[in-house]
Amino acid sequence: MSKKYVIAFDQGTTSTRAIVFDEKGSIIAISQKELKQYYPQSGWVEHDAEEIYNDQLETFNQAVSDSGINPKDIAAIGITNQRETTVVWDKQTGKPIHKAIVWLDKRTTDICKNLEEKGLSNYIKNNTGLVIDSYFSGTKLKWILDNVEGAQEKAEAGKLMFGTIDSWLIYKFTNGKKHVTDHTNASRTLIYNIKNLEWDKKLLDQLNIPESLLPTVQTSSSDFGTIDYKGTSIPIYGVAGDQQASLFGQGGFEAGIAKSTYGTGCFILLNTGKKHVKSKKGLLTTLTCSLDFEPVNYALEGSIFAGGASIQWLRDRLKIIDKASDTEAICNCIPPLENVYVVPAFAGLGAPHWDAKAKGSVYGMTLDTGREELIKATVNALAYQTRDVIGAMEKDSKKKITTLKVDGGASANNYLMQFQSDLLNVEVDRPKMIEVTAFGAALLAGIKAGVWTKSDIAQIREIDTVFSPKMDKKTRKINYKGWKKATKRTKSK
Ligand code: G3P
Repeated sequence: MSKKYVIAFDQGTTSTRAIVFDEKGSIIAISQKELKQYYPQSGWVEHDAEEIYNDQLETFNQAVSDSGINPKDIAAIGITNQRETTVVWDKQTGKPIHKAIVWLDKRTTDICKNLEEKGLSNYIKNNTGLVIDSYFSGTKLKWILDNVEGAQEKAEAGKLMFGTIDSWLIYKFTNGKKHVTDHTNASRTLIYNIKNLEWDKKLLDQLNIPESLLPTVQTSSSDFGTIDYKGTSIPIYGVAGDQQASLFGQGGFEAGIAKSTYGTGCFILLNTGKKHVKSKKGLLTTLTCSLDFEPVNYALEGSIFAGGASIQWLRDRLKIIDKASDTEAICNCIPPLENVYVVPAFAGLGAPHWDAKAKGSVYGMTLDTGREELIKATVNALAYQTRDVIGAMEKDSKKKITTLKVDGGASANNYLMQFQSDLLNVEVDRPKMIEVTAFGAALLAGIKAGVWTKSDIAQIREIDTVFSPKMDKKTRKINYKGWKKATKRTKSK
């Protein structure tokens, strides 16, 4: 095959990256830029969509140049993105009419309350798989239409476009030719019906959102248009929200496979196959990456808002560590904690609690609680929150999860992975290449381009370490009981 490279655009909450993969699935170049965060008010988080596009273009150029490859040898591009973050732009000028409202933003709690009061909770759960929460795009889109002068009128006149970050990037990179998204991203909007795979008319009506604003939804591994790169046409053949992309990149195509990504947040997904499992335990039902000629699969998802973000808090706010990677040695140098818990509800509590008003807290401090204990308790919180979600998943799916596949920045922390395995009493399987999210997007694009097939993942994914549980049953039970108590006290109701 002549075209042997696949590029992944990985547009995350805190950074934008372009990664060049060769046909063996090895990384040959990475370019990354930190993304600027805007906090206009307490609880509000925004990104500049133009900046996102410029950063993506810059990292794309840099990665291609660093890799030394000929652009003509690029078979396809796959895009993976922070999900739910909402952009609305003007059809004529192509300019955003407001900053992008980020998934973490809490400004739409009143709109959510209104949906609840209208008695829509069950309808939303049954048809979108989601819960009513400001996390998802639908209420953010409504907020923009309600608050930007003239936006509602323009929307009704068909002059605006809405998209999550994937749609926005595709629109920009195809010079406005394509207004599209994929199943995984659509399933995070609160206005997409995951049963009939259509935008949900009833919810659009309730939120007063004209359908003309919305992108066309395609399978995740399909033709999303072409990028004209210095005279070479490169197809975009893969698109997926980052958490579904990492499930795919972990080889999570079949029912029963679970993964956890330790990024800004922590996101745990369990593939439930063709079965649309409705959670009774505070989890979401979402679509997994879809392929042409295959029916869609569903997953149960537990979204935890503060994962790596709480390690950044130790670094940037408390200033008690220099860098995130210092935490592993610090955790290892003190004995196991007894009864000290950090509950990092900095952006409320996500799954399985869904308490938007909860605020972060520390429990169980005594005079001998110092810097190291605080750091260890914050790292432990990533594992405890994951334990909450896995417990809910096992109850919902009525199956025991035996292995958890892991990826994301904090999965490099051996202390955390061992503690995770201890707490769950399951094996934690970490691959050698932890850029699984980007690889998932590359794989979607590479499958469509004929570079790989799904079964190649078995050769490509090499295991780095399998962490096996070492903690005794009693200690596990006592530790988790303490966490549950701390969480209970953190909740707002
Ligand atoms: O749902 C939000 C999620 O997609 C964000 O992921 O990796 O940017 O923290 P990340």
